[in-house]
Amino acid sequence: MAAMELIGSTSKFRAVLDLINMVAPIDSTVLIQGETGTGKEAVARAIHDASPRRQNRFVTLNCAAIPSALLESELFGHERGAFTGAVTQTAGRFQTADRGTLFLDEIGDLPLELQPKLLRVLQEKEFERLGGGRTIQTDVRVITATNRDLVRMVEERKFRADLFYRLDVLPITLPPLREREDDIPLLAEHFMRRFAQRLGKSIDFIPDGVMRELKRYHWPGNIRELQNVIERSVILANGPALHLQAIRLDSPKAVSPSSSTLIEAQRAHIVAALRKKNWVVSGPRGAAIELGVRRSTLMAMMQRLKIQRETSPEGAA
Ligand SMILES: Nc1ncnc2c1ncn2[C@@H]1O[C@H](COP(=O)(O)OP(=O)(O)OP(=O)(O)O)[C@@H](O)[C@H]1O
Ligand SMILES: [Mg+2]
Repeated sequence: MAAMELIGSTSKFRAVLDLINMVAPIDSTVLIQGETGTGKEAVARAIHDASPRRQNRFVTLNCAAIPSALLESELFGHERGAFTGAVTQTAGRFQTADRGTLFLDEIGDLPLELQPKLLRVLQEKEFERLGGGRTIQTDVRVITATNRDLVRMVEERKFRADLFYRLDVLPITLPPLREREDDIPLLAEHFMRRFAQRLGKSIDFIPDGVMRELKRYHWPGNIRELQNVIERSVILANGPALHLQAIRLDSPKAVSPSSSTLIEAQRAHIVAALRKKNWVVSGPRGAAIELGVRRSTLMAMMQRLKIQRETSPEGAA
């Protein structure tokens, strides 16, 4: 896989890039923490790609996606006959990743009983397959990630302290997108170009109103959510500009206290644009263009948000 480009230029993100470059040449374990969709896996790959191991494999295992009974075999492999159904000898991820990097995703979901085994391979660089006596040496750089609070899990004795300290040698915490909103235009344009190219569409412009809306939203799903929103709007776009109509930032899923705030913010934003344009909706001097949406979309939004033309507008000329 080609080295992926990590987009971002805010100081918070540049600090992350500096850390990636700092930890890449070292073999110590890295623990990447951050909310969902903040780029934990992307950062793990970037570390591998910048490391002396880049010619060898980057192997991943999601600890939350595998039933715990099978996890041990996935990690360390098994001998033939180790358990019912083990008809052939199978290599585990630690063997497959030899001389490369092993990315253990959702490490907070690693069952307590497997934690000493992981600690051992990290410390001794050796392990045995299930049902096998032979000790296998391994040269693997381990990167882990989680969106759970491991410190709290250690306090609650759901995660072993000794393993946590071993994993936490080089911690990287990824900021949520809402804390680096100045990266949103860069990311949005990057995704727009990528999807437009992939779909063979010539969309190359995000109106100011749309960009403002993108920056205002709180992005609970972070970069992944932004990427999905841009993909959807590129698919639905039928002109050179990206429009808000496809961007349902007040998605019904966001039933949280913040969603009402978001709707309020959206309402206030639309009213402000309408006032500025003297309640003209369409045409070159209308609010629709200001907001980067179509006339019909704006009308629908006004209806949904119960926005009516103010009859005695305060402060209007
Ligand atoms: N800095 C970045 N620049 C460009 N694309 C990015 C960046 N960070 C993440 N992405 C993209 O955003 C998407 C989500 O990233 P990723 O899967 O790494 O997040 P994650 O933190 O592992 O999410 P989860 O917690 O849900 O597993 C991916 O498609 C990834 O390629
Ligand atoms: Mg991930």
